[in-house]
Amino acid sequence: MAARAKVWGEAMENVRSELLELTPRQRSEYEFHRAHAEQRRGLAEDPVVVDILDPHHRRPWNAYWSLYDRIFEAGPSGKRVLVPGSGFGDDAIRLAMLGAQVSAFDLSPESVEIARARAAQAGYPDIDFRVMPSEAMSGYDAHSFDMVLLVDILHHVDIPSTIREIARVVKPGGLIIGDELYTHSALQWIRESAAVSKLLYPLMERWIYNGKKPYITPEEHKIDETELAIVLRVMDTCSVDFFGMAEGRLFPSHLAWASKIDRALIRLFRPAAKRLGSRVVFSGAIGSAPPVT
Ligand SMILES: C[S@@+](CC[C@H](N)C(=O)[O-])C[C@H]1O[C@@H](n2cnc3c(N)ncnc32)[C@H](O)[C@@H]1O
Repeated sequence: MAARAKVWGEAMENVRSELLELTPRQRSEYEFHRAHAEQRRGLAEDPVVVDILDPHHRRPWNAYWSLYDRIFEAGPSGKRVLVPGSGFGDDAIRLAMLGAQVSAFDLSPESVEIARARAAQAGYPDIDFRVMPSEAMSGYDAHSFDMVLLVDILHHVDIPSTIREIARVVKPGGLIIGDELYTHSALQWIRESAAVSKLLYPLMERWIYNGKKPYITPEEHKIDETELAIVLRVMDTCSVDFFGMAEGRLFPSHLAWASKIDRALIRLFRPAAKRLGSRVVFSGAIGSAPPVT
């Protein structure tokens, strides 16, 4: 308990001293996630769900499960893996279960505290969790990671500086694997129109989020095709796939049968997938001389 209080105190000190240097967007994210983690404090006792690691039962229609198919293909065992924006630690802990040597960080010290508790409970106290912003990954040496995993983080951060930092800390030829919320700018324009935002969205919101308050921070925005291009530009080779034409927009994600049809349709309309998808899953090797954006 005393050790936990000490770690907590140190983390808070680090953040306090850096608070003045946070950008308005980082500060807003920090404050939102501080309150969010307070509400989810009980999660510290919750074990990480591991069904996604079962090689015999896959869900290829689901973006997150498909992300893990790419992780398996990459063979994380023995590799040094970085998880930026690690939240409550689920992916960091699962990567450690797969044999990776994991470093992870988040802007929110409260989330990091929960992630550390869960990692210790799962038997992986060696995961190196830190508190820092993705735009300035101070403390990691250049070319120190074999792989970086990005899950629902890019839509919260400044993409050019985050990608510049990733290109610095990952070894040339190292892998970037990601699953991010995405929307093409043309669809976003429709989403922001008065008819959709004032009439259709409020009707759909209740059905999509099952009456619960959606987890959306004031500063987040889904990445678009221009931001995706910034991410892909640092890779020599990359493979990109889009998911969720209607899932999460017109029906909730827990309807597996609807998700399967949705996935079949987006595969059928592959040339238009970049315009229609609401999630993008990507992976590729970082270039030997990645362009600095
Ligand atoms: C949607 S959550 C995703 C968490 C985790 N990757 C997951 O999939 O469960 C976004 C996370 O990004 C963190 N975050 C927001 N802005 C950040 C920044 N500039 N640098 C690092 N982490 C940030 C938040 O604290 C939050 O934990």
